[in-house]
Amino acid sequence: KYEKIWMFIGGGSLLAFLIVLGVGAFLQGTQPPSCLTTIDPTNVEAHESFKQENLGLQEMDDKSYVVNVVASAFNYDFGTDEDGAPVKNIRIPVGSKVLFQGTTKDVIHGFELAGTNANMMLEPGYINTVEVTLDNPGTYTLVCNEYCGTGHHFMTASVEVY
Ligand code: CUA
Repeated sequence: KYEKIWMFIGGGSLLAFLIVLGVGAFLQGTQPPSCLTTIDPTNVEAHESFKQENLGLQEMDDKSYVVNVVASAFNYDFGTDEDGAPVKNIRIPVGSKVLFQGTTKDVIHGFELAGTNANMMLEPGYINTVEVTLDNPGTYTLVCNEYCGTGHHFMTASVEVY
């Protein structure tokens, strides 16, 4: 009759394991890790990070940066430079930790910094983020990898790691 007790314990722990696995998967499924905050897509400037003067590269700390971007068909808005021209190339020192924060004013756009781990979707109504450390110098092309309309292929910018 001791075998029955052991079978009960074995079966019980298997059940407990399955419950933990199931609950874990459920929680992950209901909380996509990259959709942390909601935002009004018709008024992104109401959010501090996406005010015109806060777009583009922001230095947080030594070798720590935030890059804010607002996507729209068919452009990535990184703000303007000293001359008032739209920023299309961002220069970041090698070895920097960079948090990219983005949203979109219209449809879903992609945000893929080719050759790095920075790859996310930008969804209307959400702020999406991805953090990477840029350890290799070079010029990286930013591409939209979600089809968003006729100008999709022209939706690019670049990041220069120096
Ligand atoms: Cu934006 Cu494709």
